[in-house]
Amino acid sequence: MKNKVTKAIFPVAGLGTRFLPATKSIPKEILTLVDKPLIQYAIDEARAAGIREFIFVTSRGKGALEDYFDSAPQLEESLRKKNKKDLLDILRKTTMPSGAIAYIRQRDPLGLGHAVWCARRLIADEPFAVILTDDVIAAEKPCLQQMVEAYEEVGGNMVAAMEVPPEKASAYGLIKAGEEANRIIEVKGMVEKPKLEDAPSNIAVIGRYILTPKILENLDDKAVGAGGEIQLTDAIAREINESDNVTAYRFEGKRFDCGSKSGFLEATVSFALERPDLRDDFLSFLENNIMSPKAAQ
Ligand code: G1P
Repeated sequence: MKNKVTKAIFPVAGLGTRFLPATKSIPKEILTLVDKPLIQYAIDEARAAGIREFIFVTSRGKGALEDYFDSAPQLEESLRKKNKKDLLDILRKTTMPSGAIAYIRQRDPLGLGHAVWCARRLIADEPFAVILTDDVIAAEKPCLQQMVEAYEEVGGNMVAAMEVPPEKASAYGLIKAGEEANRIIEVKGMVEKPKLEDAPSNIAVIGRYILTPKILENLDDKAVGAGGEIQLTDAIAREINESDNVTAYRFEGKRFDCGSKSGFLEATVSFALERPDLRDDFLSFLENNIMSPKAAQ
Protein backbone atom coordinates (compact mmCIF):
# COMPACT_ATOMS: atom_id res chain seq x y z
CA MET A 1 0.00 0.00 0.00
CA LYS A 2 1.47 3.34 -1.04
CA ASN A 3 1.55 6.20 1.43
CA LYS A 4 -1.32 8.63 1.18
CA VAL A 5 -0.47 12.15 0.02
CA THR A 6 -1.51 14.50 2.83
CA LYS A 7 1.09 17.28 2.58
CA ALA A 8 1.45 19.93 -0.08
CA ILE A 9 4.07 22.61 -0.69
CA PHE A 10 3.02 25.95 -2.16
CA PRO A 11 6.06 27.90 -3.38
CA VAL A 12 4.86 31.49 -2.98
CA ALA A 13 8.10 33.40 -2.52
CA GLY A 14 8.16 34.99 -5.99
CA LEU A 15 8.11 38.78 -6.28
CA GLY A 16 5.37 38.88 -8.91
CA THR A 17 7.09 41.65 -10.84
CA ARG A 18 4.95 40.95 -13.92
CA PHE A 19 1.99 42.38 -12.02
CA LEU A 20 3.56 45.60 -10.78
CA PRO A 21 2.39 48.01 -9.52
CA ALA A 22 -0.34 45.80 -7.95
CA THR A 23 2.27 43.52 -6.41
CA LYS A 24 4.20 46.37 -4.83
CA SER A 25 2.23 45.84 -1.63
CA ILE A 26 0.08 42.74 -2.30
CA PRO A 27 1.47 39.24 -2.78
CA LYS A 28 0.57 38.11 -6.30
CA GLU A 29 -1.15 35.04 -4.82
CA ILE A 30 -3.79 37.38 -3.35
CA LEU A 31 -4.72 38.78 -6.78
CA THR A 32 -8.27 37.70 -7.50
CA LEU A 33 -9.99 35.92 -10.36
CA VAL A 34 -13.46 37.48 -10.03
CA ASP A 35 -13.55 37.55 -6.20
CA LYS A 36 -11.36 34.65 -5.13
CA PRO A 37 -7.59 34.97 -4.66
CA LEU A 38 -5.32 32.70 -6.70
CA ILE A 39 -4.14 31.05 -3.49
CA GLN A 40 -7.70 30.04 -2.59
CA TYR A 41 -8.09 28.17 -5.89
CA ALA A 42 -4.92 26.25 -5.06
CA ILE A 43 -6.04 25.48 -1.50
CA ASP A 44 -9.49 24.32 -2.62
CA GLU A 45 -7.87 22.00 -5.15
CA ALA A 46 -5.48 20.62 -2.53
CA ARG A 47 -8.27 19.98 -0.03
CA ALA A 48 -10.33 18.15 -2.67
CA ALA A 49 -7.32 15.88 -3.24
CA GLY A 50 -7.08 14.96 0.45
CA ILE A 51 -4.29 17.35 1.49
CA ARG A 52 -4.40 18.14 5.23
CA GLU A 53 -1.09 19.92 5.80
CA PHE A 54 -0.25 23.04 3.83
CA ILE A 55 3.31 24.30 3.65
CA PHE A 56 3.91 27.76 2.25
CA VAL A 57 7.38 28.71 1.16
CA THR A 58 7.30 32.48 1.48
CA SER A 59 9.58 35.49 1.42
CA ARG A 60 9.66 39.05 2.71
CA GLY A 61 6.44 40.99 2.06
CA LYS A 62 4.10 37.99 2.06
CA GLY A 63 2.49 38.73 5.44
CA ALA A 64 -0.91 39.31 3.83
CA LEU A 65 -0.99 35.59 3.00
CA GLU A 66 -0.74 34.66 6.68
CA ASP A 67 -3.57 37.02 7.56
CA TYR A 68 -5.67 35.69 4.73
CA PHE A 69 -5.81 32.20 6.27
CA ASP A 70 -6.38 33.41 9.82
CA SER A 71 -9.79 33.94 11.40
CA ALA A 72 -11.18 37.49 11.15
CA PRO A 73 -13.14 37.87 14.43
CA GLN A 74 -14.36 41.44 13.87
CA LEU A 75 -15.54 40.78 10.34
CA GLU A 76 -17.20 37.51 11.35
CA GLU A 77 -18.97 39.17 14.28
CA SER A 78 -20.30 41.93 12.07
CA LEU A 79 -21.59 39.44 9.47
CA ARG A 80 -23.18 37.32 12.20
CA LYS A 81 -25.06 40.35 13.56
CA LYS A 82 -26.37 41.09 10.08
CA ASN A 83 -27.25 37.40 9.62
CA LYS A 84 -25.17 37.16 6.42
CA LYS A 85 -24.82 33.38 6.39
CA ASP A 86 -23.59 33.13 2.79
CA LEU A 87 -20.70 35.47 3.42
CA LEU A 88 -19.84 33.72 6.69
CA ASP A 89 -19.69 30.44 4.78
CA ILE A 90 -17.35 31.94 2.22
CA LEU A 91 -15.13 33.24 5.02
CA ARG A 92 -15.09 29.90 6.79
CA LYS A 93 -13.53 28.26 3.72
CA THR A 94 -10.57 30.65 3.96
CA THR A 95 -9.53 29.71 7.48
CA MET A 96 -7.29 26.82 8.41
CA PRO A 97 -7.44 24.71 11.56
CA SER A 98 -4.62 25.48 14.00
CA GLY A 99 -1.46 23.68 13.03
CA ALA A 100 -2.61 22.78 9.50
CA ILE A 101 -0.56 25.48 7.87
CA ALA A 102 3.16 26.19 8.10
CA TYR A 103 5.24 29.02 6.71
CA ILE A 104 8.87 28.55 5.79
CA ARG A 105 11.04 31.35 4.47
CA GLN A 106 13.10 31.02 1.34
CA ARG A 107 15.81 33.52 2.15
CA ASP A 108 17.35 33.76 -1.30
CA PRO A 109 15.44 33.47 -4.60
CA LEU A 110 17.44 30.55 -5.98
CA GLY A 111 14.72 28.82 -8.01
CA LEU A 112 11.74 26.49 -7.72
CA GLY A 113 13.85 23.49 -6.76
CA HIS A 114 15.40 25.46 -3.92
CA ALA A 115 11.98 26.68 -2.74
CA VAL A 116 10.72 23.10 -2.49
CA TRP A 117 13.93 22.01 -0.75
CA CYS A 118 13.35 24.70 1.91
CA ALA A 119 10.37 22.64 3.14
CA ARG A 120 12.37 19.40 3.49
CA ARG A 121 12.18 19.13 7.30
CA LEU A 122 8.40 19.36 7.27
CA ILE A 123 8.09 16.64 4.66
CA ALA A 124 10.49 14.13 6.25
CA ASP A 125 9.89 10.72 4.63
CA GLU A 126 6.43 11.02 3.08
CA PRO A 127 5.29 11.58 -0.48
CA PHE A 128 4.11 15.14 -1.02
CA ALA A 129 2.39 17.35 -3.55
CA VAL A 130 3.62 20.65 -5.00
CA ILE A 131 1.15 23.18 -6.35
CA LEU A 132 2.19 26.25 -8.36
CA THR A 133 -0.50 28.87 -7.81
CA ASP A 134 0.18 30.55 -11.19
CA ASP A 135 -1.27 27.51 -12.93
CA VAL A 136 -5.02 27.64 -12.40
CA ILE A 137 -6.83 24.61 -13.75
CA ALA A 138 -10.57 24.58 -14.32
CA ALA A 139 -11.76 20.98 -14.29
CA GLU A 140 -14.79 18.96 -13.36
CA LYS A 141 -12.60 16.85 -11.08
CA PRO A 142 -9.80 19.03 -9.66
CA CYS A 143 -6.45 18.29 -11.30
CA LEU A 144 -4.58 17.19 -8.16
CA GLN A 145 -7.42 14.83 -7.28
CA GLN A 146 -7.16 13.23 -10.73
CA MET A 147 -3.45 12.80 -10.11
CA VAL A 148 -3.82 11.37 -6.59
CA GLU A 149 -6.18 8.73 -7.96
CA ALA A 150 -3.70 7.80 -10.71
CA TYR A 151 -0.83 7.91 -8.20
CA GLU A 152 -2.61 5.36 -6.04
CA GLU A 153 -2.17 2.95 -8.98
CA VAL A 154 1.45 3.69 -9.93
CA GLY A 155 3.24 5.49 -7.03
CA GLY A 156 6.64 7.08 -7.70
CA ASN A 157 6.94 10.64 -8.96
CA MET A 158 4.19 12.15 -11.07
CA VAL A 159 3.96 15.51 -12.84
CA ALA A 160 0.94 17.07 -14.52
CA ALA A 161 1.35 17.44 -18.27
CA MET A 162 -0.31 18.91 -21.32
CA GLU A 163 0.57 19.74 -24.89
CA VAL A 164 1.50 23.38 -25.52
CA PRO A 165 1.96 25.14 -28.88
CA PRO A 166 5.39 23.99 -30.16
CA GLU A 167 6.62 27.57 -30.59
CA LYS A 168 5.96 28.23 -26.87
CA ALA A 169 7.46 24.98 -25.62
CA SER A 170 10.75 26.48 -24.46
CA ALA A 171 8.96 28.40 -21.70
CA TYR A 172 8.30 25.10 -19.90
CA GLY A 173 9.77 21.97 -18.45
CA LEU A 174 9.29 19.39 -21.23
CA ILE A 175 9.13 15.63 -21.17
CA LYS A 176 10.32 12.91 -23.50
CA ALA A 177 7.31 10.63 -23.56
CA GLY A 178 7.26 6.83 -23.63
CA GLU A 179 4.11 4.70 -23.63
CA GLU A 180 0.79 6.16 -22.54
CA ALA A 181 -2.19 4.36 -20.98
CA ASN A 182 -5.16 5.82 -19.10
CA ARG A 183 -3.63 9.30 -19.29
CA ILE A 184 -0.47 8.09 -17.53
CA ILE A 185 2.62 8.72 -19.65
CA GLU A 186 5.93 6.99 -19.05
CA VAL A 187 8.61 9.69 -18.76
CA LYS A 188 11.91 8.86 -20.49
CA GLY A 189 13.50 12.27 -20.11
CA MET A 190 12.76 15.71 -18.73
CA VAL A 191 14.39 19.07 -19.39
CA GLU A 192 13.75 22.58 -18.10
CA LYS A 193 13.19 25.32 -20.68
CA PRO A 194 15.40 23.96 -23.47
CA LYS A 195 16.04 25.85 -26.70
CA LEU A 196 13.31 25.10 -29.24
CA GLU A 197 15.65 23.01 -31.37
CA ASP A 198 16.51 20.84 -28.35
CA ALA A 199 12.91 20.30 -27.19
CA PRO A 200 12.20 16.58 -26.68
CA SER A 201 8.46 17.20 -27.34
CA ASN A 202 5.82 19.83 -26.82
CA ILE A 203 4.43 18.03 -23.78
CA ALA A 204 4.93 20.47 -20.93
CA VAL A 205 5.07 19.99 -17.19
CA ILE A 206 2.29 21.99 -15.55
CA GLY A 207 2.44 23.12 -11.92
CA ARG A 208 1.15 20.04 -10.11
CA TYR A 209 3.51 17.39 -8.80
CA ILE A 210 3.37 14.35 -6.53
CA LEU A 211 6.89 13.56 -5.41
CA THR A 212 8.88 11.13 -3.31
CA PRO A 213 11.19 12.44 -0.54
CA LYS A 214 14.11 11.27 -2.70
CA ILE A 215 13.60 14.43 -4.78
CA LEU A 216 14.48 16.51 -1.69
CA GLU A 217 17.70 14.51 -1.31
CA ASN A 218 18.50 15.15 -4.98
CA LEU A 219 18.04 18.86 -4.33
CA ASP A 220 20.63 18.73 -1.51
CA ASP A 221 23.45 19.14 -4.03
CA LYS A 222 22.00 22.51 -5.13
CA ALA A 223 22.97 21.94 -8.76
CA VAL A 224 22.29 25.03 -10.84
CA GLY A 225 20.30 24.53 -14.04
CA ALA A 226 18.37 26.55 -16.63
CA GLY A 227 18.34 30.31 -16.05
CA GLY A 228 21.02 29.95 -13.35
CA GLU A 229 18.40 28.55 -10.93
CA ILE A 230 18.07 25.34 -8.91
CA GLN A 231 15.40 23.54 -10.90
CA LEU A 232 12.81 21.08 -9.62
CA THR A 233 12.70 19.55 -13.10
CA ASP A 234 16.39 18.56 -12.85
CA ALA A 235 15.89 16.85 -9.47
CA ILE A 236 12.98 14.85 -10.90
CA ALA A 237 14.88 14.04 -14.11
CA ARG A 238 17.61 12.36 -12.02
CA GLU A 239 15.05 9.82 -10.84
CA ILE A 240 14.38 8.73 -14.41
CA ASN A 241 17.91 7.31 -14.56
CA GLU A 242 18.22 6.26 -10.94
CA SER A 243 14.81 4.74 -10.16
CA ASP A 244 12.81 4.80 -13.41
CA ASN A 245 9.72 5.87 -11.46
CA VAL A 246 8.63 9.11 -13.12
CA THR A 247 5.29 9.44 -14.88
CA ALA A 248 3.33 12.36 -16.31
CA TYR A 249 -0.42 12.64 -16.01
CA ARG A 250 -2.31 14.12 -18.93
CA PHE A 251 -4.98 15.85 -16.86
CA GLU A 252 -8.50 16.70 -17.98
CA GLY A 253 -9.29 20.39 -17.71
CA LYS A 254 -8.39 23.83 -18.96
CA ARG A 255 -5.21 25.41 -17.65
CA PHE A 256 -4.76 29.16 -17.37
CA ASP A 257 -1.30 30.67 -17.07
CA CYS A 258 -2.08 33.23 -14.37
CA GLY A 259 1.59 34.16 -14.18
CA SER A 260 1.01 36.17 -17.36
CA LYS A 261 -1.36 39.09 -17.78
CA SER A 262 -3.12 37.61 -20.80
CA GLY A 263 -3.63 34.26 -19.07
CA PHE A 264 -4.91 36.05 -15.99
CA LEU A 265 -7.43 37.98 -18.09
CA GLU A 266 -8.55 34.83 -19.92
CA ALA A 267 -9.15 33.12 -16.57
CA THR A 268 -11.03 36.14 -15.25
CA VAL A 269 -13.39 36.21 -18.22
CA SER A 270 -13.92 32.43 -18.25
CA PHE A 271 -14.58 32.24 -14.52
CA ALA A 272 -16.95 35.21 -14.62
CA LEU A 273 -18.93 33.50 -17.38
CA GLU A 274 -19.22 30.38 -15.21
CA ARG A 275 -20.82 32.34 -12.38
CA PRO A 276 -24.63 32.22 -12.34
CA ASP A 277 -24.78 35.60 -10.54
CA LEU A 278 -22.65 37.36 -13.19
CA ARG A 279 -23.05 35.43 -16.40
CA ASP A 280 -26.07 37.10 -18.01
CA ASP A 281 -25.06 40.72 -17.44
CA PHE A 282 -21.42 40.10 -18.26
CA LEU A 283 -22.22 38.17 -21.43
CA SER A 284 -24.55 40.85 -22.71
CA PHE A 285 -21.85 43.45 -21.99
CA LEU A 286 -19.35 41.41 -24.02
CA GLU A 287 -21.80 40.83 -26.84
CA ASN A 288 -22.89 44.46 -27.11
CA ASN A 289 -19.59 46.20 -26.53
CA ILE A 290 -16.81 43.83 -27.44
CA MET A 291 -17.98 41.20 -29.89
CA SER A 292 -20.15 43.51 -32.03
CA PRO A 293 -19.52 47.02 -30.71
CA LYS A 294 -21.50 48.65 -33.53
CA ALA A 295 -24.72 47.19 -32.18
CA ALA A 296 -24.28 49.33 -29.07
CA GLN A 297 -23.79 52.60 -30.92
C1 G1P B 1 7.73 26.23 -13.69
C2 G1P B 1 8.52 24.93 -13.89
C3 G1P B 1 8.34 24.41 -15.32
C4 G1P B 1 6.87 24.26 -15.63
C5 G1P B 1 6.11 25.58 -15.35
C6 G1P B 1 4.61 25.34 -15.48
O1 G1P B 1 8.33 27.23 -14.48
O2 G1P B 1 9.90 25.16 -13.62
O3 G1P B 1 8.99 23.18 -15.47
O4 G1P B 1 6.71 23.88 -16.98
O5 G1P B 1 6.37 26.05 -14.01
O6 G1P B 1 3.89 26.50 -15.25
P1 G1P B 1 7.99 28.80 -14.30
O7 G1P B 1 6.80 29.08 -15.16
O8 G1P B 1 7.71 29.03 -12.86
O9 G1P B 1 9.21 29.52 -14.80
